Amino acid sequence: MNSVKEFAKMKNDNKKISVVTCYDYWSAKILDKTNIDAVLVGDSAAMVMHGYETTVNADIEMMAFHINAVKRGIKNKLIIGDMPFLAHKKGIDQLVENVDTIMKAGANAVKIEGADGNLESIEYLVKSGVPVMGHLGLTPQSVNQLGGFKLQGKENGAAQKIINDAKLLEEAGCFSVVLELVPAELARNITEIISIPTIGIGAGPHTSGQVLVLHDLLGMDDEFKPKFLRKYLNGFQLIKDAVNQYDDDVKNSKFPNGKESY
Ligand code: KIV
Repeated sequence: MNSVKEFAKMKNDNKKISVVTCYDYWSAKILDKTNIDAVLVGDSAAMVMHGYETTVNADIEMMAFHINAVKRGIKNKLIIGDMPFLAHKKGIDQLVENVDTIMKAGANAVKIEGADGNLESIEYLVKSGVPVMGHLGLTPQSVNQLGGFKLQGKENGAAQKIINDAKLLEEAGCFSVVLELVPAELARNITEIISIPTIGIGAGPHTSGQVLVLHDLLGMDDEFKPKFLRKYLNGFQLIKDAVNQYDDDVKNSKFPNGKESY
């Protein structure tokens, strides 16, 4: 998939959309050869790649740096770049400059967290030819306001607000919406109510597609075990074992051997 039009078509055709995050060249090269539909250069890069506690530390330079590396490895997939914390809140000129930086770095679309205060900017971007993905539920850039990485939309009022926001994002022209950490039934309702695809993470099985952080699905962090996550590999253990095997071979003069020498 390399066009946002495919997203709409897949929802219409009842085909699930698969998205993973990607932050660097070597994993982009691998993902390009997979069946995944699109990659998200998420601001989660601040946490996964740089070790920050939240995504608040991501900025435009960091995002452009990662998008650029991903673009060199991804040839045939849609690349969605995250707008980092406050990058779309500094007036129209700064918004346009920041989106320009992200798109020129290689993104085909941008993702913007939240609806409040963003609708005009989203409309402006869409009218300017920039595809925009929305993001509702747990919006990690607001973690300091939300009081942690918690399930959102549990109470009726909060659920209704997420439904209303999803409708507003659709009206503003978003081509899809990420629903993060919301009850499965709420995600199902939203997916039925709006016509654009919903992409869930911790939002149950009834969304139009799913997104996971690549490092999470590969099991790279042995301490990260949220309920919603399925680990498809024990990457942490496999990498640790491989590096220890190398260390052992070096220390016991088993690497390199004759065939590995010139
Ligand atoms: O930054 C990110 O990786 C995200 C996904 C978790 C949706 O926003």
